[in-house]
Amino acid sequence: MRLFLDTASIEEIREINRWGVLSGVTTNPSLVAKEGRSAEQVWKEILAEVDGDVSLETTELEAEAMYRQGKELAQLGANAVIKVPMTPAGLQAGKRLTEEGVRVNVTLVFSPAQAILAAEIGAYIVSPFLGRIDDAASDGMEVLRRICEIYDVQGYETQVLAASLRHPMHVVEAALAGADIATMPYDVFTKLVKHPLTDIGLDRFLTDWEALRRKLEEGA
Ligand code: E4P
Repeated sequence: MRLFLDTASIEEIREINRWGVLSGVTTNPSLVAKEGRSAEQVWKEILAEVDGDVSLETTELEAEAMYRQGKELAQLGANAVIKVPMTPAGLQAGKRLTEEGVRVNVTLVFSPAQAILAAEIGAYIVSPFLGRIDDAASDGMEVLRRICEIYDVQGYETQVLAASLRHPMHVVEAALAGADIATMPYDVFTKLVKHPLTDIGLDRFLTDWEALRRKLEEGA
């Protein structure tokens, strides 16, 4: 399962990129707006920083305008993936973009039925929003499992990207469910590496190492 950061912050991307485990980035209009500067500038920096897919989201609502915006965004970098929403216009624009070789990520997906539509237009990625499904008192992980199963049974090649992940267990369960990609905010990414026994173990090793060094010094 590829690990993506869900952010538009170049500092967060640079930090996680140094770990050597970052395969891509997803952005959305809310995340880009948080940066408070030109969206094009933000996207270009991210596209240059990341050696992997970077999702840039369209904001037009009508199919023709969304298609044209998608074509423009795709020119920003060879690693750009164009996000379109799961709406009739998004499907229409997404299909045209896909047919012209642009890689499309169908976003705001909340049900297996919607995921079937995304696969049928030949989308590169489908993004079910697990955390937001949980927020609506439903089971986001179960939706993800059913999408993965349907794609498997049907032989769909669209990659399943588990989105709106809120904690490390979401990431673990998404991997078990067979998601191709998991995207998560910076704070979830940093929690993945943490375990109290790692810290305690490292502390003990270094204490014992230091004790040996001192003993040898005293004996010398
Ligand atoms: C994915 O592409 C979305 O940007 C993201 O995962 C949404 O997550 P949220 O529900 O935490 O805003």
